[in-house]
Amino acid sequence: MKKIISITKGDGVGPEVIDEALKILHIIEKYRDFTFDLQEAPAGGAVWKETGTNLPEKSWNTIINSDALLFGAIGLPDLPQGIAESAILKIRQGLDLYVNLRPIKLYDPLRDRCPLKEEYIGKGIDITIIRENTEGLYANIGGILKDEVAMNSMVYTRNGCERVIRYAFETAKSRKHKKITSVDKANILKPSQLWRKIFEEIGKKFTDLEQENIYVDAFCQWLIRAPYSYETVVTGNLFGDIISDEGAFLIGSLGMASSGNIHPGKVSMYEPIHGSAPDIAGKNVANPIGAILSVKLMMEESFKSPELAHSIENAVEDALKEGRTVDIKSNELPVLSTKEMGDLICKKMQSSLKK
Ligand code: NAD
Ligand code: IPM
Ligand code: MN
Repeated sequence: MKKIISITKGDGVGPEVIDEALKILHIIEKYRDFTFDLQEAPAGGAVWKETGTNLPEKSWNTIINSDALLFGAIGLPDLPQGIAESAILKIRQGLDLYVNLRPIKLYDPLRDRCPLKEEYIGKGIDITIIRENTEGLYANIGGILKDEVAMNSMVYTRNGCERVIRYAFETAKSRKHKKITSVDKANILKPSQLWRKIFEEIGKKFTDLEQENIYVDAFCQWLIRAPYSYETVVTGNLFGDIISDEGAFLIGSLGMASSGNIHPGKVSMYEPIHGSAPDIAGKNVANPIGAILSVKLMMEESFKSPELAHSIENAVEDALKEGRTVDIKSNELPVLSTKEMGDLICKKMQSSLKK
């Protein structure tokens, strides 16, 4: 099966983690019936410096003509705010990627890296966060007037809420979850009141699922207090951005968390949730697992290969028993560089696919 994958390495640690994710794609090509035509689609800060645009037309054309996009991270500290980063929103909104799927799963070997006491980890952490990805405060409706007034409107539409909430219910059902949690701020924000109404309307068709609403401020403490009690969590754009970084640290590091920006059946984008991490860029120390698990999501969601998704995840879990990047280091195991971590995961992957 031939697939075209566009590749945006981006800025900072982006190229470092994507290079490791690409090694996984090469192993898949070697042992399974997939051929990947990889096409670079530069975006972000470095390309802005060269061309004056953060998403050149050539990159956009490459992306829209591919089967999926693998994205690193963008943002450079010497650029004005948003100059690089707005490329991500152009892609999410341009491709109408209304679902941002952000799994927060604590792998067993990393229980020692979870910052919570055992009693709060409980039976473990395995949360499917589904973040609305095209609207809310990210709808880009607003502006700055004479450096005196600045505003962004929080835009929620019925269609925008319905489609992501329905996706979340269907995901909860297909994963055999018992509960779905909606996170909002309906006690004060009008868009959240519409969101909650729609969550309750759609919920009527899913009577087997326990359904709950939690305000986002309280949810931030529940996520630390009882993370084991959440399965599917659905929320708006900004709330989802924030709670997923909080969740990422619970599973060991921001470098562990992956994501899929998805429009079912259309070109979707897969990326680690972290940024360009300028504090560690160029040092070969970044954790590549968020990027590698983003390939796992690509296999699952875009290429419909649960077998390959599984083998990537197993390879990551096995590798974590033998070595770790510095952000998730353990006293008993060797500290690995970005490349060494990637190589170890590839070795595990290779031996499982050879069987
Ligand atoms: P960040 O995610 O880049 O880094 C936050 C902290 O997490 C840093 O200490 C960093 O070293 C650490 N970290 C991040 N990724 C890591 C990895 N793979 N391994 C180990 N540690 C890791 O967030 P920030 O510092 O707030 O933002 C830096 C830049 O990235 C900004 O320009 C921001 O706008 C941008 N950003 C881009 C994306 C994206 O491209 N999707 C996402 C978030 C932030
Ligand atoms: C993320 C990032 C982006 C967001 C930024 C860089 C636009 O933080 O993907 O989580 O806020 O969605
Ligand atoms: Mn974020």
